[in-house]
Amino acid sequence: MTKKLNVVILAAGEGKRMRSFLPKVLHTLAGRSLLMHVTTTARLLSPDKICIVIGHGGEIVKQSVAGDDLTWVLQPQQLGTGHALMQTLPHLDRDGLTLVLYGDVPLISIQTLRELIAKAEEKYCVLLTAEVENPFGYGRIVRDSDTKTIKAIVEQKDANTEQQEIHEINTGIMLIPNDYLHNWLPKIENKNTQHEYYLTDIIALAVRQSAQVASLQAANLWEVMGINNKSQLAELERIYQRHCADKLLHLGVSLIDPSRIDIRGELVCGSDVEIDVGCIFEGRVKLGDSVQVGAHCILKNVIVDADTTILPYSMIEDTEIGGSCKIGPYARIRPGTKLSNKVHIGNFVEVKNSQIALGSKANHLSYIGDSIVGKNVNIGAGTITCNYDGANKHQTIIEDDVFIGSDTQLIAPVRISKGSTIGAGSTITKETPEGQLTLSRSKQISVAGWKRPQKPKV
Ligand code: UD1
Ligand code: CA
Repeated sequence: MTKKLNVVILAAGEGKRMRSFLPKVLHTLAGRSLLMHVTTTARLLSPDKICIVIGHGGEIVKQSVAGDDLTWVLQPQQLGTGHALMQTLPHLDRDGLTLVLYGDVPLISIQTLRELIAKAEEKYCVLLTAEVENPFGYGRIVRDSDTKTIKAIVEQKDANTEQQEIHEINTGIMLIPNDYLHNWLPKIENKNTQHEYYLTDIIALAVRQSAQVASLQAANLWEVMGINNKSQLAELERIYQRHCADKLLHLGVSLIDPSRIDIRGELVCGSDVEIDVGCIFEGRVKLGDSVQVGAHCILKNVIVDADTTILPYSMIEDTEIGGSCKIGPYARIRPGTKLSNKVHIGNFVEVKNSQIALGSKANHLSYIGDSIVGKNVNIGAGTITCNYDGANKHQTIIEDDVFIGSDTQLIAPVRISKGSTIGAGSTITKETPEGQLTLSRSKQISVAGWKRPQKPKV
């Protein structure tokens, strides 16, 4: 295409039907705001300009998307989609072509937009339409009964009984030459039930001036579903998640129940990965060959190498996990953690900002924070690295082949030297010598004749 491509995203509306303080386009689908979905797709087209029309909650909407490539245009009063687009006129390239996207139609695909652009010739307006079973709420595409050419778009609230029977709807997405916008937008009136300046009226104006209006039907309905209320948001979330699940199944991932998985970002899987029900994947998660993820795990920005098993109810964030590890059940692994191969992190163990080397184990009830743990270390149940003195965080170093007895406190900064054994119930405050047993317990005594206190008898 030789003409400059401008994209306008309409995002000024309040979204009254969401019944929320949050502007509609900031509600999230698959972990990202509706506006972020649309903006990301728009950027993939590498247009000459992206304008986003904001109004209701404009400042927070603006802060939600970063980037110097965006032109923010304020629509101080929300007088309709036509009025919204009109605010962008001074910013649009005079001889360009504008693609209108809606901030509340989040899942439009790059493929469909490319097809739409391919259809736009010199003087064409191109509308993206869809055939839907239940057209309620959408603008209807009115065609000439003989020629089948598009004559107008009629909004739900303005449609007569006959028009309400039309199942071809306006997705809102359209491509219009900018000189048309300059000529026709100022001519739109608000003589309709909502007293709004409808962008959709530009089609009837175009037809009146003998301009040709072409259309393209979206391949997938979910791409063009608009969000006006929480029920539509929840519905589209499930449709999208099912779509992601089907893609994974197609690639050979075993999902115990494809209707019970949530992907809020990008999940990349090797061969023979198995995922049980109720798992949530956020950000970028990469699972190596034969990784198993048990029920109800939450993984955010995690890389897991081959043959590792993550048992149910584990929560892992910003972590790299080696191969053949065993994690959970009920493990919590926090940001900045790196586990080598064959590490075991068991139930009710919390690890934060720590490195744990080959074959080391912390199987029960421990806190390992700001630590460097060597190879083949065994950390007994109830071991705590006391990393915080109330003001600063300190490091614990545990060298190779250390054995730490249960219920031990390691007061950081401290070094447990290679091959040390720590007796159970110790509080370690100083570096321990290599290969020796260190303990800090007082000697066991028995008090002869001691009696338990008794409640006075009444
Ligand atoms: C709109 C279309 C309808 C289409 C449907 C598809 C019009 C008049 N109607 O209806 O034909 O079937 O989308 O989902 O265009 N907005 C502004 N400023 C405003 C008004 C709206 O920026 O003054 C933005 C909203 O933030 C939203 C989008 O435009 O992102 C659509 O507005 P909305 O009120 O939801 O229109 P619909 O009634 O859904
Ligand atoms: Ca809408």
